[in-house]
Amino acid sequence: MSKKLFIETLGCAMNERDSEHMIAELSQKENYTLTDSAEDADLILINTCSVRERPVHKLFSELGAFNKKKKEGAKIGVCGCTASHLGKEIIKRAPYVSFVLGARNVSKITEVLHKPKAVETDINYDESQFAFNDFRSSPYKAYINISIGCDKQCTFCIVPKTRGEEISIPADLIIKEVQKAVDAGAKEVFLLGQNVNNYGRRFSGKHEKINFTELLRRVSRIEGLRRIRFTSPHPFHMDDEFLEEFASNPKICKSMHMPLQSGSSKVLKEMKRGYTKEWFLNRVQKLKEICPEATISTDIIVAFPGESDEDFEETLDVMRKVEFDQVFSFKYSPRPLTEAEKFTNVVDPEVAKERLIRLQDLHQQIVDKKVEQLRGKTFEVYFEELAADNYVRGRTDNNIIVKVKGSEELLGEFKKVTITDVARTVMTGEILEEKDR
Ligand code: SAH
Ligand code: F3S
Repeated sequence: MSKKLFIETLGCAMNERDSEHMIAELSQKENYTLTDSAEDADLILINTCSVRERPVHKLFSELGAFNKKKKEGAKIGVCGCTASHLGKEIIKRAPYVSFVLGARNVSKITEVLHKPKAVETDINYDESQFAFNDFRSSPYKAYINISIGCDKQCTFCIVPKTRGEEISIPADLIIKEVQKAVDAGAKEVFLLGQNVNNYGRRFSGKHEKINFTELLRRVSRIEGLRRIRFTSPHPFHMDDEFLEEFASNPKICKSMHMPLQSGSSKVLKEMKRGYTKEWFLNRVQKLKEICPEATISTDIIVAFPGESDEDFEETLDVMRKVEFDQVFSFKYSPRPLTEAEKFTNVVDPEVAKERLIRLQDLHQQIVDKKVEQLRGKTFEVYFEELAADNYVRGRTDNNIIVKVKGSEELLGEFKKVTITDVARTVMTGEILEEKDR
């Protein structure tokens, strides 16, 4: 009889892919099947995120809750970035945890399973060429890792300490993975890395050195593949060649993530982001000129140590100038093992709270204005999932979420859809009849 696996995934798309890899290894080598009930599971895995502080506190209360409800003899494993940085501390604080598996050690999942109290958190471990078994949570789109780790040293960010130095996966392996996903029915791929447009910087063996732009060209030649998305690119590496390929390659989806972090050049310097406000605005302007249909999303941190009112105004200024379509905004959260943790010029928490609210209010106004312009427009939508009340949901090429009335037969299909009603996150539409197209 097969054993049951419950897995909870927190954090970014790279964690989603790591979870898929662990599910694949456990189902094919250890005969596990997935369950969505922790009570029924023989193995409970939490794939953690450590980018901000709150999830770390949450982890221990959650572990306690899992320990109470798990069935007799079931194991609990802690994986991901918090596993990397807390290591054996986790077993000290929660002795019922069976093993700790760091973000860069995913391929050892079947090994640690049989090693009581194993702690595998080597951040120099190289799995860039490990042949994982297959598992994909969606048949319609496929996550494909193109690099692991990150070589940037942004002073606020713990990721280089949990995922280690950057290693690119050889292009021929990436192409094979994409081909396999396309053969299995995926029409969209999502290329993943912490800093994707730095692709090609370092390989673990002798491999043909190509850059991200060239990788995009090669991936786009795969027949049957309709859409390419990627995350996360870095504004510093957005050179003209890259932006021009983005604009002109019809398979590359026209939504760009441009993580700003701050609009103040002074703060950007303190963050060691490697670009200025002017460079960022220059890249946005170039993108808008050559690809006006592109939507732009961003990440912003407010109240980084030393951020003055004037610095914060610079961030609002960039918000008004760029009019981002989507903003992921956070209050600065000091993280262990980072440079900024030692910065003493902290911003008053009340001020931080107020800045976050002001930023989010401004963004709501921008979004309310922008979505109005979508009404009545027609887009090609790729349908990916069923939604409540007999709706099916999908995305436009430029990443606008649209739902229409319908059922399973729309999944995996491209349809022309006219937007009939708008909202902040999900638009409602109607499929254009064949004869009207
Ligand atoms: N290279 C990845 C970065 C992962 S962290 C990417 O660009 O997606 C994702 C986001 O979390 C960052 O862009 C940043 O905005 C936010 N973040 C990272 N560290 C943080 C911290 N210490 N406090 C608040 N937000 C942080
Ligand atoms: Fe973190 Fe900066 Fe890398 S945000 S993941 S160190 S690009």
